[in-house]
Amino acid sequence: MDFNHVTVMKRRAVDALSVKPDGVYADCTAGGGGHTAEILSRLNENGTVVAIDQDPDAVAALRERFAGEERVSVVQGNFSSIRQILGNLGLGRADGILADLGVSSHQLDTAERGFSFHAEAPLDMRMSKSGLSAYDVVNGYTEAQLTRVIFEYGEDHFAKSIARRICEERAKEPIADTLRLAEIIKTAIPARARREGGHPARRTFQAIRIETNRELELLPGAVREMFAMLSVGGVLAIITFHSLEDRIVKNEFRAFASGCTCPSYFPVCTCGKTPSGRVREKGAPPDPDELAENPRCRSARLRSIEKIRDETSVSGG
Ligand SMILES: C[S@@+](CC[C@H](N)C(=O)[O-])C[C@H]1O[C@@H](n2cnc3c(N)ncnc32)[C@H](O)[C@@H]1O
Repeated sequence: MDFNHVTVMKRRAVDALSVKPDGVYADCTAGGGGHTAEILSRLNENGTVVAIDQDPDAVAALRERFAGEERVSVVQGNFSSIRQILGNLGLGRADGILADLGVSSHQLDTAERGFSFHAEAPLDMRMSKSGLSAYDVVNGYTEAQLTRVIFEYGEDHFAKSIARRICEERAKEPIADTLRLAEIIKTAIPARARREGGHPARRTFQAIRIETNRELELLPGAVREMFAMLSVGGVLAIITFHSLEDRIVKNEFRAFASGCTCPSYFPVCTCGKTPSGRVREKGAPPDPDELAENPRCRSARLRSIEKIRDETSVSGG
């Protein structure tokens, strides 16, 4: 199966994991397997990579790519279930965990998946091909819910008028395809704003995709689970693609690194919790060479954290 995706920060992200040749690694967003293959190239015969993706098409491509490779286990699932996924394979903690968030080029470029506003397709956008679809969001959410989604996840100033136009149009006939939705969004945006800042539907499509796949809702808990499943000395590396997910990862990492959970207005720490992680990469961008070759990586940021203590421990007592 052809799987078209150029791996972002391939060496850099895997360097961040400081791979041990006989270690256990999880690639939580394996996609076309670029990072998985890079990790594998640094393992000896005793090492293991668990390649996870929630998209059945990616999983089929991964099974084909790594057929006969005993050190790779391909699993279809959501990375928020990392604990269960590693447990089912009889693996304990991992020595390194990687997540390269968002959608793959394969998903974006496969018109019938409904992620793109450039190609006519049913409104779908489900990475896992199951559950709530973009059609359900666009046709089933109230105007207030749509405004919130488009404003929060698309950071679009015209969220209110886009949501209103969607509701007016769907009252005539359900909005079932991508190009009709893109056209409706266009008519909700003032002509002057349409000429600035890329395609007018870009932000709304991003917002609906994030909502459909519960990307930001699941992320904080998933980061905590991934960190919990690391061995001491292990590294969690995450590549983000927009400011909202990057902020979530930064805040979770900061909490592992500071340990203390006292409210900021407390004059002194009373919880006594000590750090369980040490932050390494703090939002590093791709190298200029990579940026020149692959414009889709321009918003990528790499963050990583090393686990220095098994659990947040309480001192004293
Ligand atoms: C940017 S691509 C990863 C590409 C991959 N690193 C490569 O080199 O080909 C993101 C992938 O993560 C998957 N994905 C996104 N969120 C996920 C989640 N919560 N659980 C599992 N997979 C997820 C998507 O289906 C997609 O295939």
